[in-house]
Amino acid sequence: MIIFNIIMKIIKLNAIESTNTFLKDLCQRNELENFTVVYAENQLKGRGQMNSKWDSEVGKNLTFSVLIKYSSFAVSNQFYISKFISLAIYDVINSIVEVPVAIKWPNDILTERKKVGGILIENSVKRSEIQYSVVGIGINLNQESFDNLPNAISLKMITGQVYDLELLLKKIVESVKLNYELIVDAKFDSINKRYLKYLYKYLKPSMYKDVVKGNLFLGKIVGVSDDGRLNVELEDEKIKVFNLKEIEFIN
Ligand code: BTN
Repeated sequence: MIIFNIIMKIIKLNAIESTNTFLKDLCQRNELENFTVVYAENQLKGRGQMNSKWDSEVGKNLTFSVLIKYSSFAVSNQFYISKFISLAIYDVINSIVEVPVAIKWPNDILTERKKVGGILIENSVKRSEIQYSVVGIGINLNQESFDNLPNAISLKMITGQVYDLELLLKKIVESVKLNYELIVDAKFDSINKRYLKYLYKYLKPSMYKDVVKGNLFLGKIVGVSDDGRLNVELEDEKIKVFNLKEIEFIN
């Protein structure tokens, strides 16, 4: 392990199972500063949402975790963490590519309708307050193909350019810090407005799969509840509310 930049609080590792697991363990044993980053060139057991795995070619992409601490943050507001982190990544990716960028509910980052970035948030909760979050971020930068992952894309596949991993890492951490200020200042309206503005398929009639019932249906995303559930207007104009595992987007 090399701790190469104490001022930026970045811990760089050559190979590790998962930066999220590493940072969570470290937090339990040490008092770490806010925005401490663990960054790995090679994740041997990268984890994704809903117990999926996150595979990334060694040294080609960004795989890192950042610690976010709160002085007082109600568990009931936890979806705002997803929102502000998505916005932080959106801002950086949008500043470097010409093509449209979008946030796919709950917190995937899309370009060209394909996934360029994913976020895994693990919160530590005490007495209905979130003490801190370990936010894992994977951004596909320089990988040139994704076997068996037809919905994945990298920035290089879009622009043809090669990206400097550490520069992008610093940009994203700076953007996380900026967007975190909105949480600290309780600017929830501003977060909501921007999240909906960039939300993939917001107000656009599209096909979805109701995973519980097993059928396809035409619907329109009309919002996201405070608890993070997706609000979809059906053809009969009724609103149906979905949890993460209950709906799939059909491209
Ligand atoms: C997802 O979209 O499923 C979330 C992917 C999150 C991947 C990142 S890579 C760095 C961090 N460490 C992990 O094990 N996972 C996250």
